[in-house]
Amino acid sequence: MLSYNPTVKLIVRALMVALFLGCIYMPYGMFGVLPLFTFSNDYSAAEDVALKERHGGATVPSKISDDMVIGENKPFASAEELAQAKKDWMWCGFCHYTAADAPHRIGPNLNGIIGRRVGSKDKYFYTEPFRAAAKAGVVWTEESLDAFIADPAAMYPGNRMRYAPVTDPAKRDRIIKYLKAYAQ
Ligand code: HEC
Repeated sequence: MLSYNPTVKLIVRALMVALFLGCIYMPYGMFGVLPLFTFSNDYSAAEDVALKERHGGATVPSKISDDMVIGENKPFASAEELAQAKKDWMWCGFCHYTAADAPHRIGPNLNGIIGRRVGSKDKYFYTEPFRAAAKAGVVWTEESLDAFIADPAAMYPGNRMRYAPVTDPAKRDRIIKYLKAYAQ
């Protein structure tokens, strides 16, 4: 049997505690995961009514087929553009669902996001910069979404969305078209 001296024991214990804390912090540090919190939002009810009005009271289909989003006066001009947009969206989709009846993931559900008050989805725990914007009545537009994903950390400093800036304007454009097609 090996017998450790007390200093070695202390170091090993300290390392184990550090490892344990690291394991707890890692999902938050890397992806912004906060599994235990939900938050009823002061603004969600009014925003949900406004969204319903935008849809003329009609229920939004949870399954959206390609022909509903490709063509004249629709977000995408061609099947190729849509295919590329789906690829561009892939990582966003890792953290965000877009269908009306879908839950939150690591990030909030983005249904109806364009024209919706910032930080206004119910049962989602937003960080302070988003809560402050919600209070101030800031609304997402295509322009502000573009600016946000161009540098997620800069527009709302201290927010929890861990995503590298999307520097290619064409890619940002396709991502916003994706939101228009699947999240409106
Ligand atoms: C690693 C997870 C993750 C990825 C990837 C991610 N997001 Fe997010 N997103 C979040 C989190 C978490 C929040 C909430 C941030 C907060 O409260 O600080 C958020 C918030 C948002 C919001 C504000 C929502 C609201 O209700 O006001 C938008 C819009 C958004 N993300 C769009 C995107 C887009 C577009 C992409 C892809 C380019 C993307 N996100 C990629 C995690 C992610």
